[in-house]
Amino acid sequence: MAESAPQVTLTIEGAPVTVPKGTTILEAAKQAGVLIPHYCYHPGLPVAGVCRMCLVQIEGLPKLQIACATPVAEGQVVNVFQPEAVEARKGVLEFLLINHPLDCPICDQAGECELQDYVFREGRAQTRYTPAFAKRFNPVEDFGPDVLYVPNRCILCTRCVRFMEHAADDAVLNVSERGDRALIGVHPDRQLDHPWAGNVVDLCPVGSLISRDFLHKARAWELDKTASICTGCSQGCNIGIETRQNTVVRLRPRPNDAVNRYFMCDHGRLAYRWMNRGDRIEAPLVRQDGALVAADWDEAVRQAAELLAGAGGDVVVLASPRASTEALFLARAVAGAGFRGAFRVERVAEEHPLPGVHDLALRGERAPNVKGALALGYAERFADQVSELRKGSVALVLDEALDGVAPEALAAVPHLVYVGTVLPDVARGAAVVLPVTTVAEEDGTFVNRDGRVQRYFQARSGPGMARPAWWALGELRAALGRGEPLASCAEAFALLTDEVAGFAGLTYEGLGMHGAVLGAHAPAGASA
Ligand code: SF4
Ligand code: SF4
Ligand code: FES
Repeated sequence: MAESAPQVTLTIEGAPVTVPKGTTILEAAKQAGVLIPHYCYHPGLPVAGVCRMCLVQIEGLPKLQIACATPVAEGQVVNVFQPEAVEARKGVLEFLLINHPLDCPICDQAGECELQDYVFREGRAQTRYTPAFAKRFNPVEDFGPDVLYVPNRCILCTRCVRFMEHAADDAVLNVSERGDRALIGVHPDRQLDHPWAGNVVDLCPVGSLISRDFLHKARAWELDKTASICTGCSQGCNIGIETRQNTVVRLRPRPNDAVNRYFMCDHGRLAYRWMNRGDRIEAPLVRQDGALVAADWDEAVRQAAELLAGAGGDVVVLASPRASTEALFLARAVAGAGFRGAFRVERVAEEHPLPGVHDLALRGERAPNVKGALALGYAERFADQVSELRKGSVALVLDEALDGVAPEALAAVPHLVYVGTVLPDVARGAAVVLPVTTVAEEDGTFVNRDGRVQRYFQARSGPGMARPAWWALGELRAALGRGEPLASCAEAFALLTDEVAGFAGLTYEGLGMHGAVLGAHAPAGASA
């Protein structure tokens, strides 16, 4: 809402709060630090007002009102926990539980279920139905490639129906039947196979819609959750990486109004298994008598620095736009004054825009940091750079730069320093190999297609002696006498903002959880 919108002041649970005119009581209450229980309301969907869980009392009105659909009014006094309102919500919960199975012990949603939460907070301590009351039995239904529906857990909030209708513009779900037989139906000739369909699992407040991929993998309370950025394309959707015992088991969207609102696509959501792969490089390797042998970091960095120094400035950086901005920057610093850097990126047609959500699509650039690489002076002319490598050149290669490159492509490259997570055949001729961490194992930043610099955080530990690429390249830079070793990603980012004009004015702290746009903070006249 525009800042100039007229403001309205009201009182919620005794606390005065001022919000723009048109705000709902439910949203205003969040600003007053009061959570009004709700099921059907979701800030990313049109209001439906069907669950009646958000009933509150407004002084002067004879009946309780639903907070999700009632706009604020000047001088309004709203009581959320007044006995009549609490009693009404208790009644709603009691109705919801009549047909709800008590299968929390085997339900994937247990621990993150809003029915559990609100029943625990406000529900009746005991049911008024006898144990003999027959619960309705419904088998699990297969809605689509990754979504299962358990009808008797459904509280008919219609979030899933509204997502498919309004956000995805593919109304394959509806409310079928009537009364106590009502359930969510899927179009008889269709499946729930929309490329953004996975979002209905996140939106479902109970365990009615579940992900086949995540089924029985972990209990919610065993998960560690870390803020990160999806690497699937240049949209840069904000996500959470969820790990169980150091293994990534689920990716879910993290709200960011400026990038992905509340959603992520299935392409990004289901592409996490590579983060758990077991064939990683676990120790630095140096060439000895023709073979690569394990070494310690000091020795590997010393040998790599010797090679780079011996190249007399003829160093080419072959980078991946999946590397962090800090790694790309430090690789450039290692290459020195005559820096030549190139990258490759998979480019396909842009796919699957989410019609009901402005400017959100699976982008054609299938890497998270293309804009960062360009802002740091890397060119998209990989093949040219490879063919220009001469006798005496050193190629400094950042990880996935070589994905899909034929083994013979670098046969003529005399000296290769490979900084990577796994060792592809094409890099087996490297003189030095430095093992680095993945996006899930380090802190860093990516720059999305709109120039938004966004932080990601370490979600699991890396294997063996692998270290973040910013650290490894920081050591190399120090060994070449170009500065002090770096102790943190924040230090690397500070150096970057000092030295690259386009990043001027940004601070690592200041990026916060939602990022900041490149150049927006630059002093007048500065350019990348
Ligand atoms: S399946 Fe889940 S999201 Fe859909 S109506 Fe039922 S409870 Fe709501
Ligand atoms: S749109 Fe791109 S960044 Fe967003 S979830 Fe999909 S692949 Fe990931
Ligand atoms: S959240 Fe208000 S009626 Fe459902």
